Amino acid sequence: MTGLFNEVKKHADTDPAEFWAAAAEDVSWIKPVTIILDDAKPPFYRWFVGGEINGCYNAVDCHVEAGHGDRTAIIYDSAIIGVKEFISYAELQDRVARCADVLLQNGITYGDRVIIYMPMIPQALVAMLACARIGAVHSVVFGGFAAAELAKRIDDATPKMIITASCGLEPGRVVEYKPLIDDAIELSSHKIDNVLLYQREMCKAVMIDSRDMDWDEALAAAGHAACVPVKSEDPAYILYTSGTTGTPKGVVRPTAGHIVALKWSMQNIFSCGPGDVYWAASDVGWVVGHSYIVYAPLFAGCTTVLFEGKPVGTPDASTFWRVIAEHKVKTMFTAPTAMRAIKKEDPSGELVKQFDMSHFKLQFLAGERCDPDTLHWCEDILGVPTIDHWWQTETGWPIAANCTGIELLPVKAGSSGPAVPSWDVQVISDEGHQVAAGEIGSLVIKLPMPPGTLPTLWQNDERFLKSYLSSFEGYYATGDAGYIDEDGYIFVMSRTDDIINVAGHRLSTGAMEEVLAGHPDVAECAVIGVHDALKGQVPLGFVVLKTGTPRAGTEILAEIVQRVRSEIGPVAAFKQAVIVGRLPKTRSGKILRATMQKIVQNEDFPLPATIDDPVILEEIDDALQQAGLKQV
Ligand code: COA
Ligand code: AMP
Repeated sequence: MTGLFNEVKKHADTDPAEFWAAAAEDVSWIKPVTIILDDAKPPFYRWFVGGEINGCYNAVDCHVEAGHGDRTAIIYDSAIIGVKEFISYAELQDRVARCADVLLQNGITYGDRVIIYMPMIPQALVAMLACARIGAVHSVVFGGFAAAELAKRIDDATPKMIITASCGLEPGRVVEYKPLIDDAIELSSHKIDNVLLYQREMCKAVMIDSRDMDWDEALAAAGHAACVPVKSEDPAYILYTSGTTGTPKGVVRPTAGHIVALKWSMQNIFSCGPGDVYWAASDVGWVVGHSYIVYAPLFAGCTTVLFEGKPVGTPDASTFWRVIAEHKVKTMFTAPTAMRAIKKEDPSGELVKQFDMSHFKLQFLAGERCDPDTLHWCEDILGVPTIDHWWQTETGWPIAANCTGIELLPVKAGSSGPAVPSWDVQVISDEGHQVAAGEIGSLVIKLPMPPGTLPTLWQNDERFLKSYLSSFEGYYATGDAGYIDEDGYIFVMSRTDDIINVAGHRLSTGAMEEVLAGHPDVAECAVIGVHDALKGQVPLGFVVLKTGTPRAGTEILAEIVQRVRSEIGPVAAFKQAVIVGRLPKTRSGKILRATMQKIVQNEDFPLPATIDDPVILEEIDDALQQAGLKQV
């Protein structure tokens, strides 16, 4: 690392309060901040105390007031139905203010929660911004989750309203949302009085008159609600993410920190400013969607691309290049798995040659480890720097990245770059000591973390402390393991918990085990993540059946696959399971999941010293071979 990047990093590390005070001058405040960083009650830290601000104003109104109302805010491009829509900042302001008025008319006020369960359509962004406008707290749930998962989030967030659409679109399949919403409301203990639903043409939902409202009718009849002052530390949103159990964690995003940090990141990490076209090919249901489809590009006055489709099959592997060329995208962000899917269909990158990519400058990848092959393939076919960067739902924005807007540093394949200024990332051994450069350990962040990171979990300080702050005092545990080399580049290698990463989607094997264990014929089970050439990892279940079960194993396996699909959702991609006689365990009864993973992946492993009965490992190997699930 040389020059400018080092200078910025030094400034942020030596005086974080001064560094962030300067960044905070770049956003619009309603009431000025009195304390930049309140560290009076560690390990709880608060940024920008005393300030009042509005997320929607900073994303939309400020640009209109500055005379940029005609600039395109959102380009909606559906590769599934072939529709394109260009929404200006002024048009967005009108729609958001109307939607906010509908919320107010239905009794939603400051601090109330609203669940948004929507596909990748502009109405999803309008709904999110409308909540921000009136200080309501949105919780967006990814459309690939089933009713039971939605019900868990309803019960935890206790929303006053659900905003949804009649359907989502997957290639070749219309996913009806309304039956799912009705089921989730039925399943949850917390009751919902209002559902606001956008009817899409390809599927009309049946409405319940006393509860459901039509989006178009409601917005047409509405007035324009104003932006209200929101306290810096009040939640902008809650986003549920997988933990080690079946109960998701409600990550809270503090309003002011999220605005200041995201705006800073757009210029300094992604090199995008006013008028630039930025595209994050993810989903609004994930943190990437919250931060880099919706908020950050709009805070920065960019044009954000809202893409409905997949990297392949909608209609083919050239879709991403078509969108980049047609909309003059400058910076793009997606998951490595999307690139692997394109590479599989077009290994030599012939399709990209058909397009004018002259506006395209930077390709960012995150969400899972980026294998060097994929990184080099992107660099070769795109001819622009490909930047792996690392972060998570909890942090809301990148922990490690090549900060291209400060100084483009050399790219090292396999690394997600150096720690971004203001992030003090360290590697710690199980014994709690900092390890030498190049040695693997737990990746932790010294407290306090920068603005925009989670201050706690929704109404659960105890789980927040236990999950993240109790392993290493004074540090936030990311749940990732890896190393930092002598140049300060971070290499994220694996998780230290039971979370797996399937096609860039974060999933809990613990949650899947809970579903498997609920099957009446299952005595015991384990779910592990195993290597997959396309999706990075996929789940694999091991089940021990109850003694004397008369039913055929194949029937039971088909049922448990279906159970995971209907209880967690298709996004879990749980398609494989095997019946075994016993599970390998330590003498204290802990299931040896890492050893099972090595057996499936045909990797060498040391015999665990504490194993109860080594013969079980051979039995597992045999069962996998018979089921054709052992990888070669
Ligand atoms: N609503 C309903 N169902 C959904 C859904 C949604 N929003 N999103 C995914 N699903 C379903 C899919 O239809 C699929 O169902 P199937 O089992 O019937 O085929 C299942 O969930 C798994 O979906 P997905 O993980 O998307 O796999 P895929 O095989 O359809 O596509 C990729 C594979 C690699 C092309 C795709 O996963 C991809 O583009 N990944 C990039 C992910 C990404 O951007 N992650 C965000 C982090 S940056
Ligand atoms: P999510 O909270 O869904 O964004 O998932 C975050 C997790 O995805 C991280 O904790 C990592 O395990 C993984 N992850 C994200 N980005 C990267 C990356 N660039 N390299 C390796 N793992 C990553």
